[in-house]
Amino acid sequence: MKLAGRVSRISLSQTMEVNDKALQMRARGVDIVDFGAGEPDFPTPDNVKRAAVRAIESNFTRYTAIGGTPELRKAIVQSHARLFGSSYDVGECFVNVGGKHSIFNTVSAVVDNGDDVIIPTPYWVSFADIARYAGGRTIFADTSEAEGFRLTAKLLEKSLTPKTRLLIANSPSNPSGAVIDDEEFVRIAALCRDRGIVLLSDECYSRFLYDGNRPFSLGSHREFKDTVVVCGSLSKTYAMTGWRIGYVLGPKDLILAVQKIQSHSTSNPSSIAQKAAFEALTGPQDSVDMMLAEYAKRREFVVKGLNSIPGIHCTSPGGAFYAYPNISSSFKRGIKDSLDFSARLLQNAHVAVVPGAAFGTSEHIRISYATSLEELDRGLKRIRDFMVGLDSKTLP
Ligand SMILES: Cc1ncc(COP(=O)(O)O)c(C=O)c1O
Repeated sequence: MKLAGRVSRISLSQTMEVNDKALQMRARGVDIVDFGAGEPDFPTPDNVKRAAVRAIESNFTRYTAIGGTPELRKAIVQSHARLFGSSYDVGECFVNVGGKHSIFNTVSAVVDNGDDVIIPTPYWVSFADIARYAGGRTIFADTSEAEGFRLTAKLLEKSLTPKTRLLIANSPSNPSGAVIDDEEFVRIAALCRDRGIVLLSDECYSRFLYDGNRPFSLGSHREFKDTVVVCGSLSKTYAMTGWRIGYVLGPKDLILAVQKIQSHSTSNPSSIAQKAAFEALTGPQDSVDMMLAEYAKRREFVVKGLNSIPGIHCTSPGGAFYAYPNISSSFKRGIKDSLDFSARLLQNAHVAVVPGAAFGTSEHIRISYATSLEELDRGLKRIRDFMVGLDSKTLP
């Protein structure tokens, strides 16, 4: 079949490819340690599940308003206000089918053919493909590993072009866990505003910050209300990846554009998931604190473990639940690049990781520590053996 040109501009998410391969091996009975998954290993909290059951039992199973029920939108803006000190009104909030959908709709609404979209490297794979699908040209701003992969206004300024329309920022970041300093983020937002650039701030990991740092949102700075768009998600915060609830907070004209797009694609997010999301945002929040405390322990364990393996070094992530170690020393020992490293690690050591190539850097792999300490221990031991094995020239 002849397919539309826009499809050839994008490729299947490489994070999903690794997942598929690991699943196939597991189905054949191979004992895989899976560090590939980008989702919490915790179950959705009970109170949230019960709210969904109640929704079904009370026949809350019909179409809702396209952008979500007024009660859910109110809960989103109130929860954002409580956490970040923002002051959005309900008309500045729109609910989507997961955070990825929020980003897809926002990019579709602001990027025209030939516009430049700046994406700091390393980046979450979907940012680039969504921008290309919308007709944008991607410009990658390479952050420095030595500076913890953090975006700065100076770095952004160097990447600007006359056709820059959008910056996509993600703090804490998937895959590096980097957190942009609050003051620096404000400088970045001011630069965007002064140059007429929209700043999409992906806050999907904003609740998972370590070292006692407080969640921060540019949405709390009203001086940027016409140029900053917040895209959020309940997926990671409440272990609700399968429920598919995300949201956009931004100026009313953008919200109306997103409404138009969504009215002709998905319509409303699942009515049942909306009831569950309402409970997640308005009910007890202790599950979020529990998950953060658990991720913090795992971060210590995994970063220490990785740095103790000869030939690997890893910066400590400030947030999210990913470590992004540098494995480039293996390139002198028979490995071609991060794709080759990941493929051999899966094949020979049965550990699934995502190659840095999927995130725009060739010297790293991403390890998700949204898995138990026991699994982390098992996987780290296998990675150590794999690295040691490289020296005994046993590469097939
Ligand atoms: C950086 C980032 N943004 C957004 C999302 C979207 O999450 P969801 O569509 O499940 O809400 C993800 C999921 O992995 C992510 O890593």
